[in-house]
Amino acid sequence: MSTRTFVLVVTLLSAALAATVVGGYLIWTRTQEGTAALIGGPFELVDQSGRTVTDATLKGKWSLIYFGYTFCPDVCPTSLTVMTQALDQIGPVADKVVPVFITVDPERDTVEQLAGYHDHFHPSFVMLTGTPAQVKEVAKAYRVYYRKAETEASTDYLMDHSSITYLMDPNGNYVTHFGHDATPEGMAKTIREKVGG
Ligand code: NI
Repeated sequence: MSTRTFVLVVTLLSAALAATVVGGYLIWTRTQEGTAALIGGPFELVDQSGRTVTDATLKGKWSLIYFGYTFCPDVCPTSLTVMTQALDQIGPVADKVVPVFITVDPERDTVEQLAGYHDHFHPSFVMLTGTPAQVKEVAKAYRVYYRKAETEASTDYLMDHSSITYLMDPNGNYVTHFGHDATPEGMAKTIREKVGG
């Protein structure tokens, strides 16, 4: 290898390394700032016991957050059951995670309604409701879509809503999410990997 070739090779390698480092940093920065900015944020709601719960209340522990409504015939109960079973499968790690259910149907999901619904799922569940404006705000923060389905009946209606379970870290930052097809085993495995212990 001539000196000139050697210099060229070193230059190319340095350039490639620099590009990789800069590229990696940009992707990392974008992921850190982008997702943190996109999902989660301040909220104020009330739980199934009537206590005020804010984003600050949830800090210090991991949280597993799902938005739905108690009158949901199938999707919500299935998702909350998957969350319950996933927590049952991770043993003591579950102590580090708070499962949270936030209603998108504050008209019918009163504190009393949530208290009754709570009995069907994991005992550590925090079930939250609020005024329509408070619910709108938290749903917006978590990029959750919901809408009352068109119907004749005024009380027996369905809600269209996104079915995503978010895993947030103890600082309230987004970590990952699970779709409506998540299994208890898959969710348990991911929680173990992220939360550790
Ligand atoms: Ni539902």
